[in-house]
Amino acid sequence: MTALVTGATGTTGSRVAELLERSGAAVRRVSRSSPVRFDWFDPATHDAAFDGIERLYLVAPIGEARPAAVVAPVLDRAVRRGLRRVALLSSSAVERGEGGLGELHDLVARTVPEPVVLRPSWFTQNFVSRNPGVRSLWSGEVVTATGDGRVPFVDAGDIAAVAAAVLQAPSAPEPDLVITGLEALTYDEVCRLWTELTGDPVRHIRMTEQELAARFVADGLPADFATVLAALDGIVAADTQSTVTATVPELTGRPARTVHETLTSALTPQRST
Ligand SMILES: NC(=O)c1ccc[n+]([C@@H]2O[C@H](COP(=O)([O-])OP(=O)(O)OC[C@H]3O[C@@H](n4cnc5c(N)ncnc54)[C@H](OP(=O)(O)O)[C@@H]3O)[C@@H](O)[C@H]2O)c1
Repeated sequence: MTALVTGATGTTGSRVAELLERSGAAVRRVSRSSPVRFDWFDPATHDAAFDGIERLYLVAPIGEARPAAVVAPVLDRAVRRGLRRVALLSSSAVERGEGGLGELHDLVARTVPEPVVLRPSWFTQNFVSRNPGVRSLWSGEVVTATGDGRVPFVDAGDIAAVAAAVLQAPSAPEPDLVITGLEALTYDEVCRLWTELTGDPVRHIRMTEQELAARFVADGLPADFATVLAALDGIVAADTQSTVTATVPELTGRPARTVHETLTSALTPQRST
């Protein structure tokens, strides 16, 4: 069985592909910049990607406010050609039936024989991205509208390990998996932890949702996507996203990584998945 990994150059897809390959599975890695080119918006790239594929790690088109409309025709055709199991990357903050990624939960449930929705909390890797962005600790400033809300930040390697387990399980696992780290922390606490580890001060700059959305637009995001992202911070501020789940230990047989562990490994030269 060959597994198709979309978003294969990205934070989770690269790790999913690596883990599957390490366990001996055949993997086809695809994205717009991969050797097997795949663009959700370019139908000419779809058949070659999905040829002979039964299992799929699905990263929806990034920055698209209504991804289900883009993904639906691709999935329909792939299921007719033998696709059976899909591990869809969504988010703990998104419920089935909501707009945006929530419409994709419905789509995979309707279309695919073995649908699994992966709903991770916020990635710890957001803090250590070298790309300029409002959450990178390297910049000395973390900008949020989360107030004192807590988040069970999760390591991208743990998300990938759950995805790999889902794709390789002999029968279809539970269809809705909320994936979290070991503990829920505030953004203030993460900033303090980074300062303890590096000696570099980091400020948590608190904004309103509206101010944050305007900041995202100024950074180049489309207005509708900026509003969706800023609203996610509002959900955290209400402290409704702080529940820790046992998905990582249950599916991987080991504990989830702590924020401390992920930040520490980011400060060492080699990446650990
Ligand atoms: N960051 C968080 O805290 C967090 C938390 C929960 C859920 N999520 C969800 O995670 C998803 C992002 O996953 P990620 O972080 O693993 O990915 P990522 O690092 O953002 O990378 C995006 C991947 O998608 C590919 N891609 C972008 N546009 C594409 C297109 N039109 N067609 C085909 N491929 C395309 C990119 O490669 P190319 O550029 O080569 O095409 C890349 O491989 C989002 O849906 C987000 O909502 C994120």
